[in-house]
Order: sequence, then C-alpha cells, then structure tokens
Amino acid sequence: MSATARQTAPMPVDIKSRKGGEPIVSLTAYTTPMAQMMDAHCDIVLVGDSVGMVLHGLPSTLEVTMEMMILHGRAVSRGLSRAMMVIDMPFGSYEQSSEQAFENAAQLMRETGAGAVKLEGGQHMAQTIEFLVQRGIPVMAHIGLTPQSINTLGGYKVQGRGPQAEVLMQDAKAVAAAGAFSVVLEKTPQGLSDEITASIDIPTIGIGASAGCDGQILVVDDMLGLFTAFKAKFVKRYADLGDLGEAAIAAYAADVRARRFPGPEHVFADAAPKVKAAQ
Ligand code: KIV
Repeated sequence: MSATARQTAPMPVDIKSRKGGEPIVSLTAYTTPMAQMMDAHCDIVLVGDSVGMVLHGLPSTLEVTMEMMILHGRAVSRGLSRAMMVIDMPFGSYEQSSEQAFENAAQLMRETGAGAVKLEGGQHMAQTIEFLVQRGIPVMAHIGLTPQSINTLGGYKVQGRGPQAEVLMQDAKAVAAAGAFSVVLEKTPQGLSDEITASIDIPTIGIGASAGCDGQILVVDDMLGLFTAFKAKFVKRYADLGDLGEAAIAAYAADVRARRFPGPEHVFADAAPKVKAAQ
C-alpha cells in the first residue's frame, strides 16, 4: 500500500460524519484478492479476528495472535485503494492496561497501514478507548455479543434482552463519550439496536442488530458461503462459493484420473528438431 494509493480512503472522521446518512457498508477481509473485490463497494474493510475461525480452522477467536493480525492486515492493505481499513485487536492485546493497548494498537497500525483499530468492550473499556484516541489511535468499539468474551458470556447468545438492555445502552454511551468513531452492535435485539442508534452521536454498525443501524457488517466468508461450519441467523448468503468450489475440485480430480487434464492447450510443444548443415 502506498501513501498515494490510500489518499482517497475515508478517515474515521468521515465515517463519523455519516451518522444518520447513507448506510455505511462494511465487510471483513483477510487476503489481498478479497480486499480487491470489495474495495470499490465498501466504505470500511475490517481485518477481523474472525480470521482465526474462518481461515485457520480455530474453534474461537481466542487463539488469534498479533502476528496473525499483522500478516493478514498487510495482505488486505495491498488490495485496498479507496476503502478504509480497520483492524481488530486480538484477545489479550489490550485488556491489561491502556499502555498495553496503545503499544499493540500502534504496532498494528504502523505495520499494516490500518486507519483504525477495533476492540471489544463497553463501559469497562471506555478509559482505554479515551487513552488511545487522545494519542492518535482512532477506535471502533464493539459491544453486544463480543466473541472474545465467549467463555464469560456462556455462548453466542443474543445480548441485551431484559435488564441487560440498560447495560448495553450505557455501554454504547460510554464508548461514544470516550471518543470511539463508531461502534459495532453484534447480536442485539432490533428495538434496542434502534434505540441505541438514536441515542448516540456516532454511527452504529450492525451485525445481527437492525436495518436501522447506521451501517452493516458481515464476515465475507459467511455471506459468500465459504464458511459452512455453521450459519448464524443474521447471515444472508449472497452466494454459495463453497459448493461451487467443491464441485470444481471434484471435476478437476475426475479429469486428472481420466487423463483428460491437461489437454493439448495446456501443454508445451517440444523443440523443433535441428536442421543438419549440408556436408
Ligand atoms: O472479527 C470479526 O469478523 C468481527 C465482525 C463480526 C464485526 O468482529
């Protein structure tokens, strides 16, 4: 990614100013070709720690490391010229202290070219968000279902029903007041998501939340049908590339076994025989 190539990318302040306007379009990406495919269509491309589950076959996002995020972040940034790149802070890289969060966020931005980081947590992370923002690190917050806390949440359940609704509202207000430029609402009831959207001055980006959010995000492998281990209710499959890919691989295997591949068009002619000089 060159500085010139990224000049047209929106900045976090531009995203913030989209509050209440045209919905913000976001997807996750982990590789250069995927990033290239979505660059013209998305406002934000998130290098999500979901990479651990969808590309590395891990059972959760908990084992994702800084090294993995940097590797995939660098790959994604090579594929982007106009969308803003946000990168997830992996589990264990920011919770201990604001200083730890700053060091790791700065490394992620410096080594990948991301324009902002995302971290999970509401009121208890507000102080850290403020610390980062005051030191030049734009932060996208993530509340509701926060997959890095799966062990304390007790599963991938809808968050914010009943008395928890007020907690979630306070989480949203706390991250907005701390200076986050946007907040992901994951797996939160529709009515509550709309209320939160109306109550804070930063864009809400929904995933399993509400069409009334200021923007939407999906995991790209989910919406393309490439990740098929399970399908959350909030995922809309726009393609079944997993099935298409498997059918193509099966056709290739059959061709190889029947010696139909490679065909004459895929192979190279031998060198023409040399003409012997007359004696
Ligand atoms: O890691 C991720 O993909 C995410 C999105 C689901 C918001 O955090």
